[in-house]
Amino acid sequence: MRITSRGYTPDLDFPKVQEFLFEVHKETGTFQNWLPTRFENNHMDQVEDIRIWEEEGAQRRVMAVANPETKTIYFIQIRPGHPTLLDTIIRWIETHTASKKPNPAEEQKIHIINIGGDMEREAALRKRGFERGPVYGILRVRDLDTPIPDAPVPEGFTIRSVRGREDYEKLAANIRTVFGHGEWFTADTLEGIARGSFYIRDLDLVAEAPDGAIASFCTFRVDPVSRATELEPMGTHPDYRGLGLAKSLISEGMRRLKDYDPLLLYIDGAADNPGANRLYEATGFVKKGTYFYWSKMI
Ligand SMILES: CC(C)(COP(=O)(O)OP(=O)(O)OC[C@H]1O[C@@H](n2cnc3c(N)ncnc32)[C@H](O)[C@@H]1OP(=O)(O)O)[C@@H](O)C(=O)NCCC(=O)NCCS
Repeated sequence: MRITSRGYTPDLDFPKVQEFLFEVHKETGTFQNWLPTRFENNHMDQVEDIRIWEEEGAQRRVMAVANPETKTIYFIQIRPGHPTLLDTIIRWIETHTASKKPNPAEEQKIHIINIGGDMEREAALRKRGFERGPVYGILRVRDLDTPIPDAPVPEGFTIRSVRGREDYEKLAANIRTVFGHGEWFTADTLEGIARGSFYIRDLDLVAEAPDGAIASFCTFRVDPVSRATELEPMGTHPDYRGLGLAKSLISEGMRRLKDYDPLLLYIDGAADNPGANRLYEATGFVKKGTYFYWSKMI
């Protein structure tokens, strides 16, 4: 069947793409594409730069999506076994990013992020002149049947759910500090996230310091259809690191998560630093894959 592409319309396409991502994951058991929660978190950003490919005909099955993280970093979601389509998508990303160059005369480096070990994608990227670069992040998955560590809350601290607007200013400032987000990340951003279909306040947790400061935070996002659950974000303010707060928060979150019938628990594109790596090992997450930058000058 012929496959055509068009721009992405969130209202119309979001449920179709979610279904497509879940379907491919169920069929293949792989994580080569994003799972639905990660897509939901990003699909309203740079909407004009998202592209969707679908089969012609009555069903109009989604075959692939190309979605950006920034103007020059792209992800590809695709049904496996379509190398020609993959080539078409990579070409589209090249042409589209080239059309958005601030200065058309200057060369620009573009990136497609890809999990290591997908031979079909790697071959397609190489064919178009992309080269593998540094690690982008780690995919971690946790077996939900393994015991949850006994990680007591450090003395004087309290673990509780986020209380909504009254916490958002403090929490947004904290997230900006931990992840180096710019001033664009505000209380309104958090309010937007809390409107997501994956959001469950009981699973949006903070550790509060004795003086009321938010010391550490983590959110478990449960996709309502697939029940795939993503841990995102996880951070501890630099003033409170190494006290056991993150381990204690994740452990409490995993105990609470049992009430929400999760399909699996994963962290997509997790940071690759000694603190994060040790934390996730200590809480039972296993490395399932490594995302790499694949880059090309255009
Ligand atoms: C990663 C991070 C959340 C850890 O938070 P934390 O509250 O300091 O972690 P904890 O005190 O609960 O420590 C958990 C485990 O990691 C270990 N650990 C913490 N920081 C470490 C470091 N810098 N190097 C090595 N091990 C470290 C602890 O010893 C503990 O291991 P143990 O249980 O075997 O003793 C925090 O460093 C952070 O916010 N980093 C920046 C943001 C980030 O990378 N977030 C993860 C995004 S995916």
